[in-house]
Amino acid sequence: MDVHQAEITISAVSPSQYPSDHLPEIALAGRSNVGKSSFVNTLINRKSLARTSSKPGKTRTINFYKIEETFYFVDVPGYGYAKVSKTEQAKWGEMMNTYFTKREDLRLTVLLLDFRHPPSNEDKQMLDYLLYHELPVLIVATKSDKIKRSRHQKHLQQLADGLGLSSFDDILLFSSETKEGKEEAWELIEDFIK
Ligand code: GTP
Ligand code: MG
Repeated sequence: MDVHQAEITISAVSPSQYPSDHLPEIALAGRSNVGKSSFVNTLINRKSLARTSSKPGKTRTINFYKIEETFYFVDVPGYGYAKVSKTEQAKWGEMMNTYFTKREDLRLTVLLLDFRHPPSNEDKQMLDYLLYHELPVLIVATKSDKIKRSRHQKHLQQLADGLGLSSFDDILLFSSETKEGKEEAWELIEDFIK
């Protein structure tokens, strides 16, 4: 998709604020700092519509970005950010659970994982959670530019093993630096917003 129109519709803290026009939604999940906002910005050719930062935990609300009046990218707060209180973590969990289990407009969750490292327990839990609720998932390995080509197979296998997948064929390599995987990501996403 060639995007000309993209705008933030709302940074929501509660379900009553979610958009009510029932366009399809594509959610971005993954640990804090993995590159969720960068993924959105890369796909829509913007530098900073979705806010990115070197400080993890910046995205605290559920942010709805309306794209081409056709669908929403839904940037949800990342997990695994150590510097948040137990109370905040519980709030986060409740907000996420409400969105993922109750949102009828959700069509696909893009689960982003850092290509450099083995998946964390939380990554595995997030995938298991989505699969348990029978929600469609696209697994994307971010920051592929940080790993030499000769080591790609090894890192893909590391991700598949950590997630308990029988093969790494369905993991999409992505980089917001080189734009690797951008066109393929669009093709896969477009199937879910028809
Ligand atoms: P939170 O909103 O805190 O959950 O983070 P996020 O998942 O939205 O991550 P964000 O897109 O803000 O990126 C975090 C940092 O990683 C930023 O410094 C980005 O520039 C960097 N980054 C993201 N994607 C890539 C990538 O593909 N390659 C490289 N080299 N850096 C990236
Ligand atoms: Mg973000």
